[in-house]
Amino acid sequence: MKGLLLAGGQGTRLRPLTYTGNKHMLPVANKPIIHYGLEQLKNAGITEIGVILGPMKEGIEETIGDGSRFGVRVKYIDQPEPKGIAHAIGIAEDFIGCDPFVVYLGDNLLKNGIKPFVEEFEKVTWDELLLLSRIDDITKRMRFGVAHLKNGEVIRVIEKPEKPEEIASDLVMVGIYMFRSRIFEAIKELKPSWRNELEITDAIQKLIDWGYKVVPRVTKGWWKDTGKPENLLEANQLVLSDLKPDVRGVIEDEVTIRGNVSIDKGTIIRKGSSIRGPVIIGENCDIGPNVYIGPYTSIGDNSVISKGEIEQSIVIGDTVIECEKRIVDSIIGRYTKIISNNNNLPKGTKFLVGDSCFLSI
Ligand code: G1P
Repeated sequence: MKGLLLAGGQGTRLRPLTYTGNKHMLPVANKPIIHYGLEQLKNAGITEIGVILGPMKEGIEETIGDGSRFGVRVKYIDQPEPKGIAHAIGIAEDFIGCDPFVVYLGDNLLKNGIKPFVEEFEKVTWDELLLLSRIDDITKRMRFGVAHLKNGEVIRVIEKPEKPEEIASDLVMVGIYMFRSRIFEAIKELKPSWRNELEITDAIQKLIDWGYKVVPRVTKGWWKDTGKPENLLEANQLVLSDLKPDVRGVIEDEVTIRGNVSIDKGTIIRKGSSIRGPVIIGENCDIGPNVYIGPYTSIGDNSVISKGEIEQSIVIGDTVIECEKRIVDSIIGRYTKIISNNNNLPKGTKFLVGDSCFLSI
């Protein structure tokens, strides 16, 4: 089987972070999101992988290269305009040829991986395996594709449904699909949807309408689509929950470390600081003295935190924080500096903030 890893979307819901980079390069527990998908494909035994890239390619080819570092072979495929998931798959027809294949949306994270599903799909003759996840909250279901089942098969799929009968099923489509090459025939017949995209959901519905067998499999364990900032923070929290402690940096005296903490080489944690895990801190960071880093925080390489408190946050890296306030639930972009002034002038707050930022002070 081959794999297709989709990393072409513009990530508009993650602006401003995605103005300057590809959303799949954003880190979860200090690792680019796209690495997780690549690793899951590899774990499932898939070594020939097409990575679909849009105009915003920054960093992807550098971090993945030819795939050999991950034990796979990667071919990059251009999607010049972001016209939807089905459009991206259609572009990869020559790469796929007649092989069955897995489509993995590069912004999806899945705790349990896809290995059993891939192994099952390799043995059977069904036309498609659709990976689903159960969501109790009706309003959350409306953000995804929803699947309706009967007698162990998928009989209807609806993208971002609104009508009560359409969202009555609690099974939503995880961004992972297993297809055979006949999906390309369905894609060729699609028309753009209300959001001007060729929807994969519509292509799957065509297969169903043509009488093909689409089999559902429900993933256990958590699943996250990291399309929005809050989802990125939730994913960070979930991945850090399984963090293994690993301290390679220097810890000065009178530092308190509790819970699972990973501190990479070249990093120093200075006197009087307190780190309460799960926390991951990258390479060459300078933390403290007397700084508090609280649970579910990821701090990327080359960051300096010399004053303040931070928890439940992602600091992407190359960042300076010297701030007397407690920073919570935040995602802080690269080359950012956050300071608080301690002079006696009338209190004011000074910003240099780009488009589409969110500040809560
Ligand atoms: C896409 C699919 C949707 C699926 C979701 C999973 O949505 O269209 O059916 O449930 O991925 O992440 P999008 O992220 O394009 O809104």
